[in-house]
Amino acid sequence: EVDRPGESAPVARANPLDLRHRPRRNRKSEWTRRMVRENHLDVADLIWPLFVTEGSGERMAIPSMPGVERLSIDIAVREAERAAQLGIPAIALFPNTPAALRDETGSEALNGENLVCRACRAISAAVPEIGIVTDVALDPYTSHGHDGLLEDGRIINDETVAALARQAVVQAQSGADVIAPSDMMDGRVAAIRAALDAAGYADVQIMSYAAKFASAFYGPFRDAIGTSTMLVGDKRTYQMDPANSREALREVALDLDEGADMVMIKPGMPYLDIIHAVKREFGIPTFAYQVSGEYAMIQAAAANGWLDGERAMMESLMAFKRAGADGVLSYFAPRVAEKLLAERKAGGA
Ligand code: PBG
Repeated sequence: EVDRPGESAPVARANPLDLRHRPRRNRKSEWTRRMVRENHLDVADLIWPLFVTEGSGERMAIPSMPGVERLSIDIAVREAERAAQLGIPAIALFPNTPAALRDETGSEALNGENLVCRACRAISAAVPEIGIVTDVALDPYTSHGHDGLLEDGRIINDETVAALARQAVVQAQSGADVIAPSDMMDGRVAAIRAALDAAGYADVQIMSYAAKFASAFYGPFRDAIGTSTMLVGDKRTYQMDPANSREALREVALDLDEGADMVMIKPGMPYLDIIHAVKREFGIPTFAYQVSGEYAMIQAAAANGWLDGERAMMESLMAFKRAGADGVLSYFAPRVAEKLLAERKAGGA
């Protein structure tokens, strides 16, 4: 209120509450909000997962992941170029293996001419400046959809680890920069490290899916790689129980001890407590995977007009940074990168 001359002097408008602390003062306008902001999201925080499929000029929609497509290798190369131009440091490749090439042992995983290996060669030749992360696990290649080898209906750990180590070497030979084992077998990081070193790939990094939970949020991904109708049973004998957090720290400790350079927690948003605990305990490069189901939820709600999809996207990624993640694998990566670049151009945050 402003004083008006001539009118009776207004009673000084005392603050009704005698507050020493008013945290809202620091939020009163955009410049001060920027000044006190504790965490920042940067293009360098993003890793973009891509699905590759056979053919050329191919973009196949994935109904449960609106806005995400399976790409033939030629298109994937163009998208990798776009990612590099946006400043995204790395992409992660996942294959939609033709059903005819899937078998009981996932032998296609060891074929140096498989989809992922051909994509690695094409992308590293055309876009050498982008990092290529490849997934080590057998599920895109097995007829039963499991990440490991089955014997009498059980996943056999040690035989699986031997296959995974060979798969990692085949990927490194094709130009993979970072090997990301997502299988959750015991001892696989050490075996992969030894195999890579023996094959002359001491510089190839390992980003282990150290704490990967048996989650319902992977559903749309299994549609994308074509395993959802194949999967026999579930993955609870190797992926972690969602009820456990101390066990996640143990898994991370083991993977670091075995030679992991970076670790990942997966899924992301429902497991922010794990990300926080891992970063605080180990202080090592810690990544989160905002998985397919998390992406699908935001997209579905946005499509229905139930929330502002763009804001939910940015808020979800900032939450990972606040929890302590150094970076996030996200299907939103190019959209977020575009938004961050536009904001920077506009002189905003
Ligand atoms: C499989 C793998 C999965 C994902 C990445 N690698 C699914 C699974 O374990 O069944 C999920 C990614 C996502 O949901 O976006 N090795």
